[in-house]
Amino acid sequence: MSGQLGIVGASGFIGRELARQAAAAGWRVCGFSRSPRGPGGGIAAWRDWPERPDFRGLDALVNLAGEPVNRRWTAERRRGFHDSRIGVTERIAAGLAEMPAAERPRVLVNSSAVGIYGDRGDEILEEGAAPGSGYLADLCRDWERAADRVAALGPRVMKWRTGVVLGSEGAAFRQMVMPFRLGIGGRLGSGKQWMPWIHVADLAGSILHGIGHPTLSGPVNGSAPEPERNLDFTRKLGKALRRPALLPVPPFALKLVLGEFAEVVLASQRAIPRALLESGFRFRYPALDGALADLLATGK
Ligand SMILES: NC(=O)c1ccc[n+]([C@@H]2O[C@H](COP(=O)([O-])OP(=O)(O)OC[C@H]3O[C@@H](n4cnc5c(N)ncnc54)[C@H](OP(=O)(O)O)[C@@H]3O)[C@@H](O)[C@H]2O)c1
Repeated sequence: MSGQLGIVGASGFIGRELARQAAAAGWRVCGFSRSPRGPGGGIAAWRDWPERPDFRGLDALVNLAGEPVNRRWTAERRRGFHDSRIGVTERIAAGLAEMPAAERPRVLVNSSAVGIYGDRGDEILEEGAAPGSGYLADLCRDWERAADRVAALGPRVMKWRTGVVLGSEGAAFRQMVMPFRLGIGGRLGSGKQWMPWIHVADLAGSILHGIGHPTLSGPVNGSAPEPERNLDFTRKLGKALRRPALLPVPPFALKLVLGEFAEVVLASQRAIPRALLESGFRFRYPALDGALADLLATGK
């Protein structure tokens, strides 16, 4: 499948990689932003993100909007988390509802997150697993419900339950690497919690795979086939950086620094990308060692 691809949140970390890969695969990419700019980085044209965005001429749409949650969850920030996810998805549904059915994009990939599963210990979490509990799980559930409104209008909708995305331009990877460079890297809490991770190149590649794969719809776990316990992740990262993983960070210290976001870092989600694997997607980086070697060598 190719044609015109719209990306809401195209200016972000994942959006930029997706735009580059989509353009290389032959899509004409149209980015949506509250601050539109000139073409470049795979984006042929930008459109504004007003109250009523213009979705005309798009064959497929990807929604990657969302204010970062890796900071203290003040009441004002929580409003921002909600508006930039549920609010943006509702605006997409309203905009598409106003268009003649034949002119709507045929596919929507709407971001969600593995946070929907809550804190689940060693349970294997495929797409059929029930959502969990907690603030982030509730946020993701409402986000996915908003995406279901688009599905009711006809387009094929995939709800992309993204894991921790690894890329040198991404905040998560930078925050993981920095303590090691300072010589204070270590596991978080007990380190037993499972971390679903994915290399940013695989995330973008899998989204394009999903767009072109007519049988994929509904929830899709966007994480690598081999999640790691935080303990093993930390050890492998230390080894790749040639720095020791010495100092465990106790939960109280995480809570002191991160506030409620610490619960997310300590939550366990053993997510498996069953839908992607069964649809034939081949991960370039199925295992963490290969992903880390690539990221640290190329600075991608
Ligand atoms: N990175 C991860 O590890 C990770 C993990 C799980 C899920 N996700 C989800 O994946 C999506 C993309 O993540 P990312 O890391 O690429 O985020 P990012 O770099 O922070 O980019 C977020 C994008 O959202 C747009 N945005 C923010 N608030 C908006 C609003 N109120 N209305 C319209 N657009 C808004 C921004 O666009 P403009 O400022 O240009 O308008 C920006 O391009 C997010 O929904 C995030 O929750 C990410």
